[in-house]
Amino acid sequence: MTVPTNILCPNCKSILQHAGQTMSCANGHSFDQAKEGYINLLLANQKKKANPGDNKLMIDAREAFLATGSFDFLLAELESTIDSMNVGTGQAANIKVLDLGCGSGYYTRNLLKTGDYNKLGIDISKAAIAKAARKDKTSTYLVGSVFDLPIAANTVDLTINIFSPVDISETIRILAPNGYYLKVVPAGDHMKEIAELVYETFKPHTSTITAAINTNPKLQFIEAKKLQKSITLRGSNLINFISMTPYFYKFGENHLKELQALAVTLSFEIIIAQRTETILPCT
Ligand SMILES: C[S@@+](CC[C@H](N)C(=O)[O-])C[C@H]1O[C@@H](n2cnc3c(N)ncnc32)[C@H](O)[C@@H]1O
Ligand SMILES: [Zn+2]
Repeated sequence: MTVPTNILCPNCKSILQHAGQTMSCANGHSFDQAKEGYINLLLANQKKKANPGDNKLMIDAREAFLATGSFDFLLAELESTIDSMNVGTGQAANIKVLDLGCGSGYYTRNLLKTGDYNKLGIDISKAAIAKAARKDKTSTYLVGSVFDLPIAANTVDLTINIFSPVDISETIRILAPNGYYLKVVPAGDHMKEIAELVYETFKPHTSTITAAINTNPKLQFIEAKKLQKSITLRGSNLINFISMTPYFYKFGENHLKELQALAVTLSFEIIIAQRTETILPCT
């Protein structure tokens, strides 16, 4: 694993240097690697609760569900989408990829497996990052928030952000000039059949991300595409699928156990934008 050189100290915002099991800055702040291999850069004052982000139940359910390959059509589409982009133009090595809200790292570790990519995953959930770091020794994993990224300005060639929150200005700050932002959101009818089990009326998902991109002069909207499939889920696979989402809390335990099989709509929107702003050289 090559630890990226664009990681910032969360205390003083200077660059962190990696040596042995520790990262430290010139001002004497240091952060030890956990036994799983990740580094926790989330300060106590950046947390609204003791253990922010997805909990262990959701993380284990998502990992078990993703391991069945049910979302691999999305993975394949993302891989070919990234292939068709010009990520890290003119740069043969050390292309910096950041997975924002990476969870247990399913996309971080499975995308861009070949080529000289320097991959970094960030999530606010310590349990998710611990799992990601245990499973993937080639990427770097940090506990941190997408709203205050411990990443130097203008350094990231590709930011992926799959079903996770984002702060657009913070993302633009860390993107290199011409760097790409690839976002995946649930499209309107994603998991419609599950929503219909717990709500009287189904309200389609909506996303404000395209509007946020289109109104931001520092980002150029490139493309949006929809990907849809219906699958029938049964038994523990169906329970894991529900448990990895907030719908889980709408089901009573018995109601969940009674479910046998269900045909479910999977529907995603993949949105691509590129940072337009030119960085002026220092004079
Ligand atoms: C639906 S999961 C998606 C995880 C992963 N991208 C995937 O698709 O497998 C959303 C993730 O966002 C994380 N998250 C929530 N708020 C966050 C924040 N402020 N900063 C970083 N991650 C956050 C959660 O902990 C969770 O792992
Ligand atoms: Zn520092």
